[in-house]
Amino acid sequence: MSEPLHRRTVLRGAALAGIACVGAAACSTGGSGSGSGSGSVPKAPTQETELGAAADVPVGGAKLYPEEKLVVSQPAKGEFKCFSSVCTHAGAVLNALDKEVATCPLHGSRFDVATGKPVHGPATTPLEEVPVKVEGGKLIAG
Ligand code: FES
Repeated sequence: MSEPLHRRTVLRGAALAGIACVGAAACSTGGSGSGSGSGSVPKAPTQETELGAAADVPVGGAKLYPEEKLVVSQPAKGEFKCFSSVCTHAGAVLNALDKEVATCPLHGSRFDVATGKPVHGPATTPLEEVPVKVEGGKLIAG
């Protein structure tokens, strides 16, 4: 009698773990040993993308571009830095910004978006830098 109960408990635990994975939305992107190399984390677009007015990015601050999965900062007047806003921990998109620090909603990693470097874990890898230029007052990334 006790054996089926034990088995059911194990199966139930496995099912709950599966549900937790779906909720976290990151378990499916782990991909360690999947053979796809570093391509397991979603990337920001690499083709040229117009982001709008450069003036929208404050000096000493930054702006998130959720659709493009990018973040642009302006550490000094006229000097722009652009990074993928895809978290290097498990691939969530950064969604909060406090001046030049962007926060990941999934596990709380924080990145300095003037340099791309993580300032709070669990992420340890810098954000992927994306080239950016200003043409006619518009930011062009990619
Ligand atoms: S995905 Fe884990 S901290 Fe961003």
